[in-house]
Formats: sequence, C-alpha cells, structure tokens
Amino acid sequence: MQIKEALSWGRAQLQEVCERPSFEAELLLAYHLKQDRMYLITHDRDELQEREDYEDLIKRRAANEPYEYIVGEASFYDIHLAVEEGVLVPRPETEVLIDLVADIIEKENITSIAEIGVGSGAISVVLARKFPHLKIIATDICDTPLKVAGKNIETFGLPGQIELRKSNLIDEVPEYLELVVSNPPYIAEDFLLESNVVDYEPKEALFGGSVGDELLKQIILDVKERDIKYLACEMGYDQKEPLQAFVNKLGVKSINFYKDLAGFDRGFVIQFL
Ligand SMILES: C[S@@+](CC[C@H](N)C(=O)[O-])C[C@H]1O[C@@H](n2cnc3c(N)ncnc32)[C@H](O)[C@@H]1O
Repeated sequence: MQIKEALSWGRAQLQEVCERPSFEAELLLAYHLKQDRMYLITHDRDELQEREDYEDLIKRRAANEPYEYIVGEASFYDIHLAVEEGVLVPRPETEVLIDLVADIIEKENITSIAEIGVGSGAISVVLARKFPHLKIIATDICDTPLKVAGKNIETFGLPGQIELRKSNLIDEVPEYLELVVSNPPYIAEDFLLESNVVDYEPKEALFGGSVGDELLKQIILDVKERDIKYLACEMGYDQKEPLQAFVNKLGVKSINFYKDLAGFDRGFVIQFL
C-alpha cells in the first residue's frame, strides 16, 4: 500500500466518525511515520512501512477514541500537554477561564492560588508559565490526573511553582490563598453525551452530581468559608440562573458570568471580600 492509498483508506474509515476525516487520517499517518504532514505529499508514492500499526491507529479513531488519547498529546493554549485515558482532554473553552484569571492575578499582584481538579495540568501549567512568581497548589481526587499533571509539570520545568496534592476540593490545602480556580465536573448524571466523550473520558471529570452543579456549589461554599478573595470557575451553559440564585442567598461582593467563544454561558468570577 502506497502512502496516498493509505490516506484514502484512512479517510474512508473515518468518514462516519470525524468532521475532518482527511485531516485526521493525515495526522495519524504523520504520527505513525514520525514525520510532518508535508512529508506525506512529497512521498505519496512510497510504500507504507508497518502498515498494520497505522491501520490500528485508524481503527481506534474509527471506534470513536479521542484523537488526543491515541497520540498521547493535546494542544492547549500555547503548549502541547501529555494526556492519556483517565484524564480529561483539555478543551479550548477553558482558555477563556485562564485569560480571566490571568487578568485578576496581574491586576491584584496575586502570588498564591489553588486549582481544584488539575486534570492534565492545563490551567496550572499555563498560569505558572505566564507568572513566574505565582505559587499554585493543584488538587485532584483521582490518581491518574495527578500522575499526568506531574509529568507535564516536569516537562515544563515547573515543580518549583506547582505543588500537586491529592485532595477532595481544597480540604487538604490549609495554606493562605488569594484565589481559587477550577474547571470542575459540572455535567448532570443523566445528560446524554457523545460516545467519544462518555465511552473514553473519566466519569470523575465529567459528572458533577444528579443536577450537575452540586460540586460547583460546594466549591463556592468552601472558598467563602476560607475567606479567599476570588473564585473563578467554568460551568455548564445552563447553570447561570441556579448559580446566580445560590450566590444571591449566600451574599458575595460580586459575581460576573462570562461566555465561551461560541457565545454560551460558560463560567463565573466571584469576589467575596
Ligand atoms: C473537568 S476536569 C478538569 C481538568 C483540567 N483542570 C482541565 O481544565 O482540563 C475535572 C477534574 O476534577 C477532578 N475532580 C473531580 N471531583 C473532584 C473533587 N471532589 N476534588 C478534587 N478534584 C476533583 C477530576 O478527577 C478531574 O481531573
């Protein structure tokens, strides 16, 4: 099988699953050959070596496995992060949360924060790279995210800035904190997700309770009780109203909701003091 034949076979296999079957077939073939996509054009008549391995990659993707798990890497903000099954693939909408938090850190000269639910380390790694004086304690309740985040923290040379801690929310973080950031699980347990998400991504990263916003509400309560000034969280597109009602009862200095790039309500920043 020549490279160009391998590409058209891959494209046909991915037709039903991917929005861009040609592109993903090219990416997977380039990954298999450890070359860039340009190589595929300049060598399109070369015979494909270790063809079965390429076919296995395509079959995994055709079975709806996320591309990022297959290649072990996700592109996020200005970096590539290691990912694997057991860790949420970081999403582009979380980049909006990072920019909002970065504005607060800059304006208020913040140096000590915590992240709840570190996952791959996406939020903490990007923030630590932006602010070399920032110290972050990043928690997760699951072992695989802590392991993968640790690997990414090492890769980017950030062990001096980010400390990982196994903890429910910030229960094991008694230190003084100025801000907490979190992209917690916030999906309702009975919400029907696409198979590439629900069959492969960790349930602990997706579902926030039977309504979905239970963990978000607990985070709000915990941060308020600890007298921490700021809380910035991602949330579901339909959670603005219940969360607004919840903080109205609780009493906060301000809550500002933000939208993602697609125009959906996607999160909030609370100032408590
Ligand atoms: C939606 S993922 C976010 C991962 C990463 N921060 C990101 O934005 O890509 C939520 C993470 O929270 C963790 N988590 C779930 N419940 C938790 C809890 N009670 N305390 C701490 N972490 C929790 C999950 O294991 C998962 O890694």
